[in-house]
Amino acid sequence: MIPIDCQIATFACIYFTSLWLKRFFTCTACDVAREAVEVSPRVKNFKASDKVVAYLSISNGGGFAEFAVANESLTVARPPEVSAPEGAGLPVAGLIALQALTQAAGLRLNGRGPLKNILITAASGGVGRYAVQLAKLGNTHSLGADEVLDYKAPEGSALKSPSGKKYDFVVHCTRAFPWSVFEPNLSECGKVIDITPGISTVTTFALKKLTFSKKQLTPLLLTPKGENLEFLVKLVKEGKLKTVIDLKHPLSKAEDAWAKSISGHAAKSISGHATGKIIVEP
Ligand SMILES: NC(=O)c1ccc[n+]([C@@H]2O[C@H](COP(=O)([O-])OP(=O)(O)OC[C@H]3O[C@@H](n4cnc5c(N)ncnc54)[C@H](OP(=O)(O)O)[C@@H]3O)[C@@H](O)[C@H]2O)c1
Repeated sequence: MIPIDCQIATFACIYFTSLWLKRFFTCTACDVAREAVEVSPRVKNFKASDKVVAYLSISNGGGFAEFAVANESLTVARPPEVSAPEGAGLPVAGLIALQALTQAAGLRLNGRGPLKNILITAASGGVGRYAVQLAKLGNTHSLGADEVLDYKAPEGSALKSPSGKKYDFVVHCTRAFPWSVFEPNLSECGKVIDITPGISTVTTFALKKLTFSKKQLTPLLLTPKGENLEFLVKLVKEGKLKTVIDLKHPLSKAEDAWAKSISGHAAKSISGHATGKIIVEP
């Protein structure tokens, strides 16, 4: 019998080797929208030729291909009013924007909740574009829609609202800005929801909890849910939510799309940042 530590070491070795190998074999992109080609007999709600939008697993991806395998629980019907590119923009960016506003900030999107003042950083990005529109549905005063800050200008980099209002929530969609920049701009119980959390986010989160601070910083990771994706598709169908498309690339130029996509986060020299979503079409 293999001793337990050896088993753990073997498991760890296999696990990390498979992770390392996966880097070379994974086909990235986890947002897809088009048509079901083949459906497993176990699938109840879809048949071949149904138009769909799906979220593929973030670890496996698979979207940069002519065919992808999607799980039924994270696949939703795409009505004729929602084009494939409009649907394809939704899964990751739309879901995290929705989760940040409804789950983390507790907003109700029926417009009947109390008026809140919300700052959305990187509001021209894929997530930010959805977050601004969803925040408006929730009866909020949303910076990026009612007021705009340019982060390259001094007042913008200080995150000061032009009207002097303090923020009840910040949906933070970029890695820039430490807590010290947010804090003076938050209302008494203001909360920053950080969807790009790093070590400093986690440290500040713990510190604020331990000191019972009224102002809070919450790291947020996507928990994809089929019902939320269905809700977003319905909003697009009703004309309440738009997918802002920066550029469409053919699949043969997926590399260019990828380069443009990462330029929003790091390599600023490539060809300018995307404004909204980048779509790859077969
Ligand atoms: N937590 C999760 O589960 C989750 C899920 C989805 C995405 N994310 C993360 O969320 C972030 C945003 O994603 P995305 O798809 O919206 O990215 P994106 O489309 O590439 O947008 C990035 C945006 O950031 C803006 N930006 C860059 N530096 C900035 C700064 N210093 N201050 C303010 N804005 C700045 C850019 O604006 P300009 O072009 O004007 O410079 C650009 O519009 C990414 O880091 C992504 O990894 C997290």
